[in-house]
Amino acid sequence: MTDSLLVLGIESSCDETGVALYDTQKGLIAHTLYTQIELHAQYGGVVPELASRDHIQKLTPLILQLMKEANVSAQQIQGIAYTAGPGLMGALLAGASVARSLAYAWQIPAIGVHHMEGHLLAPMLEDKRPQFPFICLLISGGHSMIIRVDGIGQYKVLGDTLDDAAGEAFDKTAKLLDLGYPGGPNVSNLALQGDASRYKFPRPMVDRPGLDMSFSGLKTYTLNTWQAAVQNNEASEQTKADICRAFELAVADTLSIKCKRALEQEGLNRLVVSGGVSANREIRAKLDALMAKRHGKAFYPRLEFCTDNGAMIAYAGAQRLLAGQQTDLNFATTPRWSLEDLPAI
Ligand code: KG4
Ligand code: ZN
Repeated sequence: MTDSLLVLGIESSCDETGVALYDTQKGLIAHTLYTQIELHAQYGGVVPELASRDHIQKLTPLILQLMKEANVSAQQIQGIAYTAGPGLMGALLAGASVARSLAYAWQIPAIGVHHMEGHLLAPMLEDKRPQFPFICLLISGGHSMIIRVDGIGQYKVLGDTLDDAAGEAFDKTAKLLDLGYPGGPNVSNLALQGDASRYKFPRPMVDRPGLDMSFSGLKTYTLNTWQAAVQNNEASEQTKADICRAFELAVADTLSIKCKRALEQEGLNRLVVSGGVSANREIRAKLDALMAKRHGKAFYPRLEFCTDNGAMIAYAGAQRLLAGQQTDLNFATTPRWSLEDLPAI
């Protein structure tokens, strides 16, 4: 295989259908995303069966549209990368089936990509890329992890969530305050109008040693605070905003304390922050301040690549295809999959 490879990336692990074309020499060529937010909003969360059906409907037209807009023909595409897990089984199967069929028809290799590796490497799509080794804070709807990264596929999970992921806590907080789905951006936007001095929420697990995290207690704290406000006739938009602000500050502070600890423990000063929750303003501000104080640097994907997208899958898959790795035709999807099980390249 040469060192130039044009790869089609396909992401379908949850509620976004993302496709992209990445060239290992020219960089990102094109990308597009179809979000199912409207489809799931009426149910207050992702309905897996509806997600799978929608991925199947949208994938092929989206890929054809992408190729047309980028003026790329099937003959030019040299590999396909698809999300093989973790994620919703049906949704993963939809993407994998399309990817494998195209790879078979076009007679090119395909590779199943770990969704979290996609997130972890997303900052590599930017001009200013982090060098290895670094600490990665991976905060998404399903995961909150602190990882030592020594290279592609060289991952050591230093800390994990014991219960809810950071994004899940945002989503549940939004749900109990009736702010709609998806919760993260809604909580964050309302928090902008919140008074930070009204409530002080706990910083979970920071007084215990180690790098594991837990956010379910914070969610319960939010519920109790809101219920007390309702009982005291203080239920209002302002109260909701004040709660959102206190919640967001508690999450941001907790993550910052854990990252500081991880950097100190590993003797590193580069921090990569990725996954949907890395789009959060307050969290970025706290982590930037932490890194400025340490004379280190924080790296993030651009906002649209924080949440699920095809570009990060195309990038991660392209690196592995370039190293000669590929997935057999009798593919499997892996709804549960540890980052530490990935081979190094
Ligand atoms: O990475 P992602 O798109 O999907 C998973 O792999 O899980 O992350 C989605 C999560 C959701 O929980 C969403 O509420 C959260 O990221 N999120 C945010 C923000 N934007 C998205 N959370 C806090 N603040 C945001 N601005
Ligand atoms: Zn994701």
